[in-house]
Amino acid sequence: METGPRLPTMNDLPSTHERAVRDVLARHADTPGALLPVLHDIQDALGFVPPAALPAIAAALDLSRAEVHGVLGYYPDFRSTPPAPHRLRVCRAEACRAMGGQALLDHARQRLGCDNAGRSANGAVDVEAVYCLGLCACSPALMLDGQLHARVDAPRLDALVDGLHDPLPEPEAHA
Ligand code: FES
Repeated sequence: METGPRLPTMNDLPSTHERAVRDVLARHADTPGALLPVLHDIQDALGFVPPAALPAIAAALDLSRAEVHGVLGYYPDFRSTPPAPHRLRVCRAEACRAMGGQALLDHARQRLGCDNAGRSANGAVDVEAVYCLGLCACSPALMLDGQLHARVDAPRLDALVDGLHDPLPEPEAHA
């Protein structure tokens, strides 16, 4: 039998996503100040926090939608769209920047044909800047699908992305 507050419908969500959101909300029903744990758990379950779930999250936690939206927007790690299958994070903090980290990031975006949001042209990779991966002594560094790589140059980055299972676009031919 369903307990707790009656939640707004999540019409735009696939039923599996709606079930995951409801499960998370039920798990945290008695947790004070549960917004951050709820958002983390939803993102862990789905890879993102669907905007269509916001009214239900707000209702379950007795918050306004604006409060939920504000917290989501404050933390850059929360996503509002489904992630690509692969995630490439290139460090551009100080040590890496001094060793070409920004150029490496630019190369990754160009090589993969990223749009303004950092999604590769084939939709397989999200490219993001990150600020320190703890490999400052071996910069420039990046993380691909959770694996750290140190002292990366453009050819090595190309080899890493070419090794992904999803096909990637060919680099533009030079005239
Ligand atoms: S500055 Fe890049 S890993 Fe620390």
